[in-house]
Amino acid sequence: MYASFDNSFTHLLNWYINNKKNYYNKDVCDMEARGKCMQNAVSSVYNPTYESEPFVDFETIGPSTEIEELNLNWQEKDLPERIRTKHVHRLHPYLGKFIPQLVEIFLRKYEPKTVYDPFSGSGTTLVEAKSLGINSVGCDISEFNVLLSKVKTDDYDILLLEKEVKDIVKQFRIKNENTLDRSPILTTNNKYLNTWFAPKALHELLLFQSLIEDYEYQDVLKLFLSRSARSARLTKHFDLDFPKKPQTEPYDCFKHSRVCKPVEIASKFLTRYSYDGLKRIKEFSEVKNDASVELFCHDSRTVKIPNFDVLFTSPPYLGLIDYHEQHRYAYELLGLTSRDDEEIGPAFKGRSNGAKDDYVTKIYEVFKNAVKYMNEDGRIIIVVADKKDFYSSIRDDLGAIEEHKISRHVNRRTGRRNSAFYEDVLIWKV
Ligand SMILES: C[S@@+](CC[C@H](N)C(=O)[O-])C[C@H]1O[C@@H](n2cnc3c(N)ncnc32)[C@H](O)[C@@H]1O
Repeated sequence: MYASFDNSFTHLLNWYINNKKNYYNKDVCDMEARGKCMQNAVSSVYNPTYESEPFVDFETIGPSTEIEELNLNWQEKDLPERIRTKHVHRLHPYLGKFIPQLVEIFLRKYEPKTVYDPFSGSGTTLVEAKSLGINSVGCDISEFNVLLSKVKTDDYDILLLEKEVKDIVKQFRIKNENTLDRSPILTTNNKYLNTWFAPKALHELLLFQSLIEDYEYQDVLKLFLSRSARSARLTKHFDLDFPKKPQTEPYDCFKHSRVCKPVEIASKFLTRYSYDGLKRIKEFSEVKNDASVELFCHDSRTVKIPNFDVLFTSPPYLGLIDYHEQHRYAYELLGLTSRDDEEIGPAFKGRSNGAKDDYVTKIYEVFKNAVKYMNEDGRIIIVVADKKDFYSSIRDDLGAIEEHKISRHVNRRTGRRNSAFYEDVLIWKV
């Protein structure tokens, strides 16, 4: 799905690799020191080669760590999936998140008291901030994403949580066994749910949902329900990210190299994900520190937030993902309110020139609003694959100076992309 990013960006990166091995633009830095640097010009560009040793010693990073020590071109062996998806980072699937270690590195280097992520998504910035004892503020237009971030970062009475999770699984099993052979099973008028779930799977999801009100940690249980619903949809096993229509007949499964049948039940997912989620929340509770997390479900162009020192974010790309639609099952099942008309750059609005202008204006407005709350000497750090160079005009309009730009070769991520992909870490001072 990311293949469309690559061609001209690959070309540019190859040029760097071939012509400027371990390139670090010291001349420009010297110019800046002599006061000759033009405003907004890049003071350092760092493009380490993919072959050179990547940086993995995260705990050693501090304010004195030099940018050119940070080779972020990790391969699978340097930063295996289990580390990238540790504890709550894999509490629920979410397409389009960045890897936690990127956040960790820059939080350690810039040591903010408070970090702000205006596109907080699945909460990666907030989780990493909490691990490091840094206060965080997150904003996202998607109610589901805010729920996910909240569940990841909330503090729990772990013994009570464990008791509740075990109990709901037990109650669910008992009630499900009692109702399975009976008719009618639990039903709904919701058209989406009736289309995307087999009757038995839907019954089980509705049954689990009906039990949630008996417990204190309802948001956690809703999230387990949502994760189960995602897996229990009538989709092909290899097409969970963007299924176009329900799969009701057996099909050739590329993932399992055999003929698979569409999912008919949800119970195995409800049990599995309840225990897996509990384990992940427990693991995180052992490593997190005391720090506040404030979440806003709002358009980040206009949200009012507390003051902060560092903004760390990865913005939505133009015309690539529909962030509400990817969790449509959760919106329908949990009765969440969709604000997809306020999403910036959604896939459904395309990539026309009009969509592009709209995207650049709105991203600018997000940063313009954020800097009102940024403390003196703050930094804006953006992780982005800016192939069309949208971000230099946003930076200039903001009156920001690009202190550093670190290029990064992204080897592999979740999803079905297998071609190369590059992104930059832009560090701006306003
Ligand atoms: C690339 S994702 C961020 C992912 C995040 N870094 C993570 O690791 O989970 C971009 C996010 O921007 C959010 N978004 C889009 N338009 C928005 C707006 N107007 N205000 C706030 N958030 C918005 C989307 O809902 C999506 O979650």
